Amino acid sequence: MNLRFDDSSITVAIVGCGGFIGSHLLDAVLERTRWRVFGVDLDFYRLQHRLNHERCEFLCADLADPAVVERIAQFPLVVNLAAICTPSRYMGEACEVIRSNYDHPATLATACARSGSWLVHFSTSEIYGRTLPDSGELIEDETPAVFGPVAASRWSYATAKLLAERFIAGLPGLKWTVVRPFNFVGPYMDFMPGVDGEGIPRVLANFSTALLRGEPLKLVNGGKAKRCFTSVHDAVDFLFALFAAGSGLPDAGSETAVNIGSKTAPGVFSQAFNVGNQENEVSIAELAGKMRTIFAKVRGVDVSTLPEPQIVSGEEYYGVGYDDSMRRMPSVAKAERLLGFKARIPLDVALEESLSWFVGHYDTGASS
Ligand code: UGA
Repeated sequence: MNLRFDDSSITVAIVGCGGFIGSHLLDAVLERTRWRVFGVDLDFYRLQHRLNHERCEFLCADLADPAVVERIAQFPLVVNLAAICTPSRYMGEACEVIRSNYDHPATLATACARSGSWLVHFSTSEIYGRTLPDSGELIEDETPAVFGPVAASRWSYATAKLLAERFIAGLPGLKWTVVRPFNFVGPYMDFMPGVDGEGIPRVLANFSTALLRGEPLKLVNGGKAKRCFTSVHDAVDFLFALFAAGSGLPDAGSETAVNIGSKTAPGVFSQAFNVGNQENEVSIAELAGKMRTIFAKVRGVDVSTLPEPQIVSGEEYYGVGYDDSMRRMPSVAKAERLLGFKARIPLDVALEESLSWFVGHYDTGASS
């Protein structure tokens, strides 16, 4: 597959283009390549600055529509980011979550297998399941997945994502790569409840909202769960390393990625990759402490003037059926070995960027 970055005849289809990761990927494609973009999503409010771009075509549509799926699969490279991926929805909307994370991706994968497109499918770190506090590195092709019982409907999402991976891996003729993100953070992540979305967003947006509104941060079950937060800019660099390697290009296409191995990689197809940052592991209680400190700095106030965090029970906060992964430490060896990619942005830098953006974007008086 020849996907040269300077080839203006190439169009990449980005499904979920209007979302958090999609909006960053779109910017990077326009800045780093001469490709065109066919962007599909249900809304494009994050893309106001790109709506009239000469190299972009946007379609407001859903993968439930077979004609849309066929159209997407006409392009040589398809990146599927579309998903319901906020845990607060996994309990009450399990069927919708499964449709979004299994049915639609499976239909798209089938169309890509027919057309010969390279499908880069976004899965999740959550397919490793109900990990324990002492779980070690999660290794793509080794670690077994253990989920909670059916009554713990939190796992509706992860089981659908895992089945989608299995379907993709089993489809004859499909050229595929699966990406498993480990808690990407950055500007435009999720939403502010009551302003541009409803319900409970993921932890970064939820803590940012509480800080802006002068409310206590809620530590679910004491905030003991740990995550390795990864800057969305590292995630985009990973994708460029992948595109380059999948095209047989000698250059990973990113000035900022740390190249620690061979850049040309034969083995990027039929592979799942963790994308995470081992250095950025914190418990959620520690994350709350860091975000309070950064917010106080951004606002120029003393941290002691901010409300203390509050412990809440998972079932009370999210509803019956909530369960959690207690530790998600990615193995990053495969991305290093096959793509020469290693995430490099420290947690404090990623958090300060995200929180400063959130404050600048939402603190208009409409936010409370
Ligand atoms: C979610 C999705 O389910 C994953 O698929 C996705 O890959 C992942 O986010 C991600 O962003 O990569 P999770 O990490 O559990 O998984 O998402 P969050 O809602 O951000 O929760 C992280 C931790 O913070 C959990 O332990 C949760 O209980 C806790 N939390 C969340 C709080 O303590 N307070 C809050 O206000 C929100």
